[in-house]
Amino acid sequence: MDARHPGTADAAVHVRAHPSLALIKYWGKQRSGTNIAATSSLAITLDRLTTDTFCTLAASDTITIDETPRDPATVTPVLDAVRAHLVDSGVRSSAEAVELHFAVTSTNSFPTAAGLASSASGLAALAAAATLAGGGSLDDRAALSRIARIGSGSAARSVFGGFTVWEAGAPSAEQIHPAEWWPELRVVVLPLATDAKEISSRAAMNRTRDTSPYYPAWVETASELFTRAREAVRRRDLEALGTATQLSTMRMFATMFAAEPPIVYWKPVTLTVLHRLAALRADGIPAWETMDAGPQVKVLTDHKSASAVLDAVRDLCAADPIVCKPGPGVRAVSDPP
Ligand code: PMV
Repeated sequence: MDARHPGTADAAVHVRAHPSLALIKYWGKQRSGTNIAATSSLAITLDRLTTDTFCTLAASDTITIDETPRDPATVTPVLDAVRAHLVDSGVRSSAEAVELHFAVTSTNSFPTAAGLASSASGLAALAAAATLAGGGSLDDRAALSRIARIGSGSAARSVFGGFTVWEAGAPSAEQIHPAEWWPELRVVVLPLATDAKEISSRAAMNRTRDTSPYYPAWVETASELFTRAREAVRRRDLEALGTATQLSTMRMFATMFAAEPPIVYWKPVTLTVLHRLAALRADGIPAWETMDAGPQVKVLTDHKSASAVLDAVRDLCAADPIVCKPGPGVRAVSDPP
């Protein structure tokens, strides 16, 4: 059965998406617009972390994530954008779109809201699943990216596979290279704590922008790092990309530490991992850390060094580490026959 069923009430569409790991971080929103970035980000999707989302048409909007029903109001802006897009693209009349509602069920293969970018894959999958369930297609990736962004900025990037950029001020992200561009690249995901974060990235970003004296410096220096990283990806230069990745992470956290009250996502184990990675680099192993709104560490390395990274930090992990490659964007999944 094809995953695309133009709008019958009983047919479920199934889409799959992957988290978008930023090597150069989006941290801070412009004051106008919904999730318009103050800094340009550069990211890859991670092939072995997945969100699977099923969607049917229903009498009212509902959403269940990892078997827990959630308040559908949290995704109304995204579903409203899907309804508007279906009208704009001629798939539905305005009268039909008002009556369109979606029952959404989503499952993550990794802990939700723990700083592993579940919002990126989750919102990209939601935008895609509702668009398909409503009778639309996934062909207009820029439109899908704009819709996903309304739910979560990083989701704008998860729509695309491979290497993506989302420029400051832009309504949508774009792909700069496909996943196959750099087959040797690896990201070792280290789950160090599985509990959900105490403060959402949205609240943390706004507090940082509004209270951290270092925030203006973060924004001012971000574009130089972005350019460096983009060039490093073009040249497939791991050391240049690794050092830019590490700096982007550390500068982002420096702005948070200086917010009022300070934001500290790290746990003691986070710092232990950072010291072990520094020791690996001193031994000539390419391994650079990146972290997001949570205590987990993801290590940028290559296919030859991933096992050395695992050996160095495995004992610190709360769950099995996962070695990822750059992965695909959001897509429909066909049911088995
Ligand atoms: O878009 P959000 O709310 O998932 O925020 C993403 C923030 C970071 O993960 C820290 C950075 C990024 O660019 O993904």
